[in-house]
Amino acid sequence: MRKPDITEDMIFECFAAAREASSLEDSAASFVDVEEYENQVMYPEFARWADTAGEPELASLFRKVAGEEKLHAVWLRELYADIGIPKRGEDTQRAIDALTTIRANCDALIALNPEGVIEKALTVAIRVEEREYADIYPRFRDQALAAGDSATAAVYQRVVDSEQHHAVWFENALADFRSRIPSNLSAC
Ligand SMILES: [Fe+2]
Ligand SMILES: [Fe+2]
Repeated sequence: MRKPDITEDMIFECFAAAREASSLEDSAASFVDVEEYENQVMYPEFARWADTAGEPELASLFRKVAGEEKLHAVWLRELYADIGIPKRGEDTQRAIDALTTIRANCDALIALNPEGVIEKALTVAIRVEEREYADIYPRFRDQALAAGDSATAAVYQRVVDSEQHHAVWFENALADFRSRIPSNLSAC
């Protein structure tokens, strides 16, 4: 039987990047779309993988972060009451499709090599959070500042700080995971 393989880059395809738009309102809608996707789809799926791999504490961490992604959307919705259900962004839809595509193979791979899948999921979570706190959301904050909207800028700064915490939590979890399970990680 051919061993299924899922690379880190394939899992990174599950990341949807929020897009800065020409208006603050449209940037906010893209932000909410992405944060709610992370809350409802991406991190719950990573948590499911961790549970399946027998790593309940890592599953709890993914669920805890998922809950905070929802909060990020709530903070911004308080300022943009008209967002409603945001239009599904192209990148979010692409990420959902990517996640659906890898789901079946991932279940098979978890059965064969749970450590490899979990290590990749944590690595991808770090990349996601780093990109958000170091690149994407600082630009959203600066767009709001340039428009003189200090309330929106303050929310984005709060999100930047929170995403940075997420990156640190995942980095610590990955270091702990590698120290516990050092031998199998190169196998997938
Ligand atoms: Fe977030
Ligand atoms: Fe985050």
